[in-house]
Amino acid sequence: MRPRRRNVTRSIAVHSYKGGTGKTTITANVAVALALKGRRVGVMDMDLEGPGLHVFFDLDPSQLRFTVNDVLAGVAPPEAACVRMSEKMNLNGGEIYYTPASVKVSEIMRTLKEGFELDTFENAIRRLQEKFGLHYLLIDTHPGIQHDTLLALGICDHQVVISRVDQQDIFGTGVLVEISSTMDKPVHLILNMIPPRIRESEVLKFARTLGAHFTVDMAGWLPFSEEVIGSLSKAILTLKMPRNPMSQRFRGLAEAIESFA
Ligand SMILES: Nc1ncnc2c1ncn2[C@@H]1O[C@H](COP(=O)(O)OP(=O)(O)OP(=O)(O)O)[C@@H](O)[C@H]1O
Ligand SMILES: [Mg+2]
Repeated sequence: MRPRRRNVTRSIAVHSYKGGTGKTTITANVAVALALKGRRVGVMDMDLEGPGLHVFFDLDPSQLRFTVNDVLAGVAPPEAACVRMSEKMNLNGGEIYYTPASVKVSEIMRTLKEGFELDTFENAIRRLQEKFGLHYLLIDTHPGIQHDTLLALGICDHQVVISRVDQQDIFGTGVLVEISSTMDKPVHLILNMIPPRIRESEVLKFARTLGAHFTVDMAGWLPFSEEVIGSLSKAILTLKMPRNPMSQRFRGLAEAIESFA
């Protein structure tokens, strides 16, 4: 008889060195792709300086009682800042539990000024995992290597680094992977916004070279898509346009994430 697989959450930090690489877009689309497969998925906005997930989830965090900022300040339990999206999004039995970050300037400034304790953050993650029986917890982060982002990277089981093929990004990705490797966590690379003129064979060759160079797992790549940029971050393609080729690509990334060891 096969041993039963333990139901443990995989926590995954989605990160990039440079801004605007597609972290939030990929997080939202992959979260929905996983939920549509029946998974219970937590999504946390840890881009405390520039939150963006609420746009995809069509929620105004200033209308909510608590956000992740309150959780990090120790004034709210994590589940109180968590919004169950499944009914609104009609996820066919899957679940998304979304923890937004505050969009109020005063609160953003307070969190940045006061910071937070590693323990508080770690306990919040553990509590969400247990309370909602999560299969996955995706954490969207702020670009770069400041303190709160490094904490998120250090706590998660896996790090997904998003990079464009732009040389500036590639340099930063190298820096990130070097930092990540000191944390002893598996690092997975996703190349995004591949320009249409670059052929798939070239991308694959480039991806292999990059993967070998940085000793990271190449989790996948996405082309530049007019539909994605044209959606103005207001639509999650995997939900609204499941037949679109980009939705298929996002589902491919979800599968790659499911195969993380
Ligand atoms: N594959 C793609 N093709 C075309 N546009 C894309 C693609 N992926 C993301 N974008 C667009 O790039 C922009 C930045 O995406 P997104 O906000 O997801 O990046 P980010 O890494 O989260 O940015 P930030 O670092 O500011 O948080 C958005 O306009 C988004 O629609
Ligand atoms: Mg973002």
